[in-house]
Amino acid sequence: MRALVVFYSKSGTTKKVAKDIAEELKRFVHVDIEEIKVERYEPFCLGTIRAIKDMFSKKKCPLYGLTYDPKKYDFLVIGSPVWGNSCAPPIHSYISELQRSTCRVAYFTAQSGAPDDTVVTHMKEVSQIEPSAVLTLKKAEIAKQNHEKEVHQFVEDILGMKEHPKERY
Ligand SMILES: Cc1cc2nc3c(=O)[nH]c(=O)nc-3n(C[C@H](O)[C@H](O)[C@H](O)COP(=O)(O)O)c2cc1C
Repeated sequence: MRALVVFYSKSGTTKKVAKDIAEELKRFVHVDIEEIKVERYEPFCLGTIRAIKDMFSKKKCPLYGLTYDPKKYDFLVIGSPVWGNSCAPPIHSYISELQRSTCRVAYFTAQSGAPDDTVVTHMKEVSQIEPSAVLTLKKAEIAKQNHEKEVHQFVEDILGMKEHPKERY
């Protein structure tokens, strides 16, 4: 079994969760990590102005320099910060390319406000894929390292290992 953890992170919160998920997954399956980098959203202040602009104009974000081919994985674990109640443009672009992919997909998000279903509903619409697991986290809880249990549960849901964890893989 091979998993690809794909994420975009402007200020490091989603990246932190991505690393924790990858570490947990690595206990059971092979994992590669694809961090999507977007120069347009750097440096911090100017990048944030552009991010807000793109968020309102729903501008597509071209992706360069991706390393891994998602078609070569059994499942994709895709993470994004929440921008304007949607996923960030780089992840919007990535998942819109995946339409009707046959591999399994899981989504995770990080946001400042209280998490709800809005972002994941949007990600499902864009990708046309029903995720096998979903994790929505609040930035403040991630900063306090309060997301360990949720990450553990998320990985269990991805692997479908509720009953006999060690026997499946
Ligand atoms: C352009 C922009 C739009 C945002 N919109 C939202 C929002 O609609 N709801 C929310 O709860 N947080 C929003 N945030 C806050 C981010 O979701 C939050 O800070 C997230 O944890 C950042 O993740 P990162 O560190 O991986 O970039 C927004 C941040 C930016 C930069």
